[in-house]
Amino acid sequence: MPFLFTTMNLISSCSKIGILVSPEINPNGIDCDLLMDYINSLDEKPFIINQEFLNGFFSKNDFFSKKLGSDLKVVVNEKKIREKDCSCVEVVKNHELNNKVKTINDWFLFYSNRFKRLKKMLDSRQELRNASSISSIKKIQAKTSVSTIVLIKEISKTANGHYIIDVEDTTGNASVFVSANSELINECENLVHDEVIGVLGSYNSNFIYASDFIFPEIPDSVEKKGGNDEYACFISDIHIGSIDFEKKLFENFIEWLKGNSGTASQKETAKKVKYLFIVGDLVDGVGVYPGQEKELEIKDIYKQYDALADYLKTLPEDIQIISIPGNHDALRQSEPQPPLFSDIAKPIYEVSNIKNLSNPCVVNIGKTNDFAGLNCLLYHGFTYTYYASKVPKLLNIGMDRPDSISEFLLKKRHLGPSHKSGIITPGVFDPLLIEDVPDVLATGHIHTLGYRNYKNVSIIAASCFQKMTSFMEKLGHHPTPGFVPLLNLKSREFKIMDFSS
Ligand SMILES: [Fe+2]
Ligand SMILES: [Fe+2]
Repeated sequence: MPFLFTTMNLISSCSKIGILVSPEINPNGIDCDLLMDYINSLDEKPFIINQEFLNGFFSKNDFFSKKLGSDLKVVVNEKKIREKDCSCVEVVKNHELNNKVKTINDWFLFYSNRFKRLKKMLDSRQELRNASSISSIKKIQAKTSVSTIVLIKEISKTANGHYIIDVEDTTGNASVFVSANSELINECENLVHDEVIGVLGSYNSNFIYASDFIFPEIPDSVEKKGGNDEYACFISDIHIGSIDFEKKLFENFIEWLKGNSGTASQKETAKKVKYLFIVGDLVDGVGVYPGQEKELEIKDIYKQYDALADYLKTLPEDIQIISIPGNHDALRQSEPQPPLFSDIAKPIYEVSNIKNLSNPCVVNIGKTNDFAGLNCLLYHGFTYTYYASKVPKLLNIGMDRPDSISEFLLKKRHLGPSHKSGIITPGVFDPLLIEDVPDVLATGHIHTLGYRNYKNVSIIAASCFQKMTSFMEKLGHHPTPGFVPLLNLKSREFKIMDFSS
């Protein structure tokens, strides 16, 4: 349930940011967070909240559906769009370009909003029902049991193997101590900077002695099945334009999808593919890394998109293509990346059955009269190399099993909790926060195939159509070009197609 606030709460919230509230309005039923987010997103803040202003807010936010319990969340600049424009693909969340100059205040709002939303998720946990703020904990008697929800600032390990974790919330700072002999010591290895967790323990002499950590985690849920017997196919990192583009493998894949190659059973599978996801790095781009020009076969970015469009235009029209950009595509690197620019990637927009969306985004596929469809969270995966190189338990497996990184991040309910793990443009809402649990999480970027089911989320790490490059070698990638994962919407089973030779 959204947080409902009264007249007093509205006046209090607005007075903090210098806005008056007209006595004529009735604020009962308004979601405080949503209204504050809306106000903060406006270039020109209102002088007074009156009924006219609220009417504008209601119309922009479909307030009445919220009042009835729906979960429309994203407003104004970064919209959660619900536009149904074909029978089987519905865009749930897409980030449009927002070129507004960002200020320190935007960063402050961005991080406080993220903290507030993750705290809300943790608040509902039984163990954290009585969670206290850091300032309240510091006032209580020593050796008392405490629970709190905090953001991790710093993690250090002493020479004796103890962990000291500096944490903060909106009321202050504290240090959490975990003894080297504690069962919790292994869990410390999974902590990362800037993530939000619950801490249980006891307070004494300025330290919280931790007995357990609570992560936002995704809940156990029933696997959503029951759509049509059809497949979603996931590819990424095609890197057209690179001298290392695996042209032959890609053409084999395209021919199979068109029904022109493969065994009878493989052709039967191809016929059932109704969705093709391209999870970023469609082309190799230009100027992405030093010396890249020597590794480009097509040096003109327009021609790179042209070459890809020539392939996509030949695919059957009943296949819905959903494409997002990656860090090699010709647009800003910071996330959320808006959809591909329609001028630079004009030929891609001319493909009749393609939907160009942002990175990340959410789409629903396969909805029928008696099946709610699958919500697919698509993220290129730029942050993944950071976690594969920083988190001890991912050090040896992350680059070979990128699906293990997805599982790790689902537990944190965030695709890039550490500020240093990616490049962010702060908006009203954190694009990498996983508020609604998806049915499918699809990524790319690592160039290595991975797939698993985690708590009934189908995790897919799409592979690539590019050989090992010198740049990838430096980053420690182990590419598996030509392997293509499929997901059956009815059975939720994976099928791997091999175009690697
Ligand atoms: Fe890539
Ligand atoms: Fe990439």
